[in-house]
Amino acid sequence: MKDIYILAVESSCDDTSIAIIKNGHDCISLSISSQIDVHSKFGGVVPEIASRMHCENILFVLEDCLSKTNLKIEDMDAIAVTYKPGLMGSLLVGIEFAKTLAFLYDKPLIGVNHLIGHIYANNIEDNLEFPLLALVVSGGHTELSIMEEDYKFKLLGTTLDDAIGESFDKVARVLGFSYPGGPSIENAALKGENTYILPKPVNDQTYNFSYSGLKSQVINIVNSEKMKGNSINVNNLACSFQTVAIDEIVRKVEIALKNTNIKRLVVAGGVSANKYLKNQLEILCNKYDCKLFIPRMIYCTDNAAMIGAAAYPLFLKKDFKDLSLDAESHADLVA
Ligand code: KG4
Ligand code: ZN
Repeated sequence: MKDIYILAVESSCDDTSIAIIKNGHDCISLSISSQIDVHSKFGGVVPEIASRMHCENILFVLEDCLSKTNLKIEDMDAIAVTYKPGLMGSLLVGIEFAKTLAFLYDKPLIGVNHLIGHIYANNIEDNLEFPLLALVVSGGHTELSIMEEDYKFKLLGTTLDDAIGESFDKVARVLGFSYPGGPSIENAALKGENTYILPKPVNDQTYNFSYSGLKSQVINIVNSEKMKGNSINVNNLACSFQTVAIDEIVRKVEIALKNTNIKRLVVAGGVSANKYLKNQLEILCNKYDCKLFIPRMIYCTDNAAMIGAAAYPLFLKKDFKDLSLDAESHADLVA
């Protein structure tokens, strides 16, 4: 069979990324332009600045991606792009760019759900085998679902309020760290101990998550200690927060492993870069004789390679979009 090359575009938040993926698995070239330095000055992603920077960077990212290979756009079999969920203005830059390429070079256009992209990041250096449990833990989502086959999801649970990554970012801010907060909390936690008593998010047997109460409790501790003139042990508070936040994920995954008897767990989204989460899931999966998939760091956070990998099954089904493809700010795995 002929090799299939997909050029994929990702611009849903604050990373402008373009990749070329061969046969849904091999990442031939990946370029990412991060805007973190700019947004961290504001304590979070500023949507207006993000879309403007995507506009400024996207052509250079394409040039860089192509320069790492001998391939040209003419050699591509399709153009794929993230069209949901994400920041409207950011998504639109990538979508219009991808549509223009598809039109000019007469290539099929494939629309990819960013969350499904995170799951298919695991298909880049591994092979997804079904059925599997899919855990998406990112800045915007905390979802646990069963994936029965390519693109067939059954949602088990989701967050009732904040996403786990969002709570890492908000807690980091109140502890004095810059955006994105996840890596700073993780580093601080390594130097600290679990000494602060924090409430467990949702102490029940459902698959749902909740992070706003935990986040508020950390903010309350910081404020009340400040008012009393006491200092905070930032490393210990970061460690206590991370322990509760991650242990809750692990507890829910354990319920799912027990109830479903599924033997494969795929972890996706930016928070999957967290080593404490990885270690705890490794222990859990050993206990249940379950195979654990976590992508390499570069494929954990936002990148276009995962979008190319997720576009491949759609290419095989000829599930193409026309030039009216529009952005959708909200979506979960099934919608
Ligand atoms: O998937 P992603 O790159 O973007 C979204 O689609 O949201 O995830 C970004 C989120 C941020 O909230 C960031 O703080 C979190 O992932 N994150 C981490 C770590 N690295 C990134 N959270 C915990 N530990 C980390 N090492
Ligand atoms: Zn993401």
